[in-house]
Amino acid sequence: MGKNIILTGDRPTGKLHLGHYVGSLKRRVELQNSGAFDEINILIADDQALTDNADHPAKIRENIVNVVLDYLSVGIDPNVSTICIQSALPALHALTFYYLNLVTTARLSRNPTVKAEIQMRGFADEGLPTGFFTYPVSQAADITAFNATVVPVGEDQLPMIEQTREIVEKFNKIYGETLVLPKAMIPENETQRRLPGVDGKAKMSKSLGNCIYLSDDAKTIKKQVNGKMFTDPTHLQISDPGHTEGNVVFTYLDALCEDRHFAMFAPEYANLEEMKAHYRRGGLGDGTCKKFLINVLEETLAPIRERRAAWEQDIDAVYDILREGTRRANEVTNETLARVRKAMRINYFEDRSIVKEWETLLRATRQ
Ligand code: TRP
Repeated sequence: MGKNIILTGDRPTGKLHLGHYVGSLKRRVELQNSGAFDEINILIADDQALTDNADHPAKIRENIVNVVLDYLSVGIDPNVSTICIQSALPALHALTFYYLNLVTTARLSRNPTVKAEIQMRGFADEGLPTGFFTYPVSQAADITAFNATVVPVGEDQLPMIEQTREIVEKFNKIYGETLVLPKAMIPENETQRRLPGVDGKAKMSKSLGNCIYLSDDAKTIKKQVNGKMFTDPTHLQISDPGHTEGNVVFTYLDALCEDRHFAMFAPEYANLEEMKAHYRRGGLGDGTCKKFLINVLEETLAPIRERRAAWEQDIDAVYDILREGTRRANEVTNETLARVRKAMRINYFEDRSIVKEWETLLRATRQ
């Protein structure tokens, strides 16, 4: 084959936020626009979302539209990238069923991301749904069904790609060279890998109220920055020397700002290094830094917000994008399933050649 194929995806459990943007969405758009890939597929992983939301199917159904709107508004172009819905791709279910036989429960129990999620969701006490426990296998089905060579994801997803690679190697060893071995691609910039919440807590999360959503208005963003971002507790007077490490305002600037933002909003500095140096020396106020960050955020998010508002006026078109993307995805994933069944020699009804095989076998045992 030798094609360069991307598969990535998200669970539709809520609107996407700035953490998703700097950690993956921005990159996806850059990869899409680079022209370096033969195919880009983006999977809305609603089946995976159900593995820990079996009792909240409405939440998943509602958020599918939010996630597609977020994709379209950051610049995912449905003419270039295929956006599709996992539950409408039956080949993924079949592949999962076969791959489950190639993975031990002991191996699944060692997955650090799943382990952490089990704790977070209280499954350690309540009981662990089997579907949730095995979702890394279903994710391997997602990735291999699209013949993905590259999987751009956050750092927390590395164990899923590792698991996928093991399944591919095992499958190919048993049944012959069939599946494509994928590679993970994670953001180079450390702050982009893990953007903290506005309160400085490790992760943006809806329940902590520390998110900036891609769909937030200017007023909400300003409120989150001014009201919830702590800076440096030792920086009491503007003239005091300050710390930029562990200072959320600077963490966000590390993740988001580009040199052009200085020309636009703070021409006294050429780049973030110069601004940081001033803060460390003393003489640069937190209010000024926050104002600059708000400008950077607004410059980043305003066009996204506008595109979202426009798409919201045409949900019919959004529906058609999903339907067409899912149709295309069914072609590719069904083709992979056929290849897998053939490799496993369980493609009984493809032709009648097995009739001969069975007849020969029966003759041999009769003699
Ligand atoms: N597990 C991913 C997440 O929680 C979502 C996902 C499902 C995914 N299938 C995928 C990501 C395939 C990449 C490739 O973010």
